[in-house]
Amino acid sequence: MSEPKTFKEGLEDVIAGESSITDVNGTEGKLIFRGYDIHDLALNSTFEEIVFLLWNDDLPNRSQLEALGDELDANRTVPAEAMRLIKQFPAGAPPMDLLRTAVSLLAFYDPDTGDNSIPANRRKAVRLTAQMGTLVAALARLSMDRPIIEPVSGKSTAWNFLYMLTGDEPDHIAEHALDVALVLHADHELNASTFAARVAVGTLSDMYSGVTAALGALAGPLHGGANVEVMHMLEQIGDPREADRFVEDALASGRKLMGIGHRVYKTLDPRAVSLRYMSRQLAESSGNRKWYDISEAVEGAAEKALAAKGKSTLKANVDFFSASVYHVLGIPTEFFTPVFAVSRISGLTAHILEQLGNNKLIRPRAIYTGPESRKVMPLVHRG
Ligand code: COA
Repeated sequence: MSEPKTFKEGLEDVIAGESSITDVNGTEGKLIFRGYDIHDLALNSTFEEIVFLLWNDDLPNRSQLEALGDELDANRTVPAEAMRLIKQFPAGAPPMDLLRTAVSLLAFYDPDTGDNSIPANRRKAVRLTAQMGTLVAALARLSMDRPIIEPVSGKSTAWNFLYMLTGDEPDHIAEHALDVALVLHADHELNASTFAARVAVGTLSDMYSGVTAALGALAGPLHGGANVEVMHMLEQIGDPREADRFVEDALASGRKLMGIGHRVYKTLDPRAVSLRYMSRQLAESSGNRKWYDISEAVEGAAEKALAAKGKSTLKANVDFFSASVYHVLGIPTEFFTPVFAVSRISGLTAHILEQLGNNKLIRPRAIYTGPESRKVMPLVHRG
């Protein structure tokens, strides 16, 4: 048999597996979780319902949702010994490095870490999903040199996160805004971090290894790290009237506009539609329109400038409007990507469960482009 000779740079449009969790239609700008359109889900369900949906085949009924809520409540507290070690992490380290290390550390305190059975993996999925918000809030509080706040039972993931982050009970508008953001970020097919998770567990390594690998991939600015860069961009622009100039300068000097463009969507990312709406609502209810107005001006300026360059398929992605939403909710900029993880842990664990339910080692090939066959010259003759 001859060796394989074709490849697609960046695995663009390569089908690398089957999945019944999420469908992304890049031409029509559609995102579907197990048959439900993301706009329908964002309007009519909560993050906890989405968690159930991603881990199972359908939305929960009332008693299934209550049972999941009880399980999440029972598991939100991070093991005390893990928290003691987390408090010793170096001050000022990048938040995604802190989170990746903290999640890896949790494996030591989970009695099911080495058990790859379906029941054990489901228990780990619950623990990881319940504890991700607690961890991110705790890391943010530590970075501000403020005491850690314990989670509260009977409250949503969104409510708990905002409460543990700020110390104030969030109002309904803030809780709902974060909840919708969590729904929108929950899963996205074989994006880089989910693929990394599936590659890691495809070796029959454990769920914590998979999630740790995924968090490493999520951190980069071409992926989850883009929301931080968007906020930096908005701050640098500072005024909607500066948007055109900023965009022209960036494109003229070959810099990418963060939060714009997508590997799969060749039209507007459907998540950006909901987040734009959410950003405007928060701007109006908080009386702070500045960040929404700059975002809208940059989106318009980018659309015009990119179309003039024949790149009209580059539109706002999920990270573009999530930046202004998170900022108005009081989330520190450097913690935007960890907040992405508070939601995405649901999709990551769903994909890990699916991968291990029908596992095959993921091991692609490369076309060798190195030197032709040659002989080793002993070191003494190499000068
Ligand atoms: N701003 C300006 N130009 C962009 C751009 C952006 N945000 N995104 C892509 N382009 C241009 C590239 O410069 C390239 O132009 P060229 O063909 O003239 O060289 C072309 O569009 C293709 O871009 P490329 O980076 O090769 O596409 P990709 O599919 O590999 O990358 C992203 C997809 C998402 C990584 C890319 O659009 C990007 O870097 N966006 C900004 C980061 C971001 O928001 N990431 C979060 C994604 S959800």
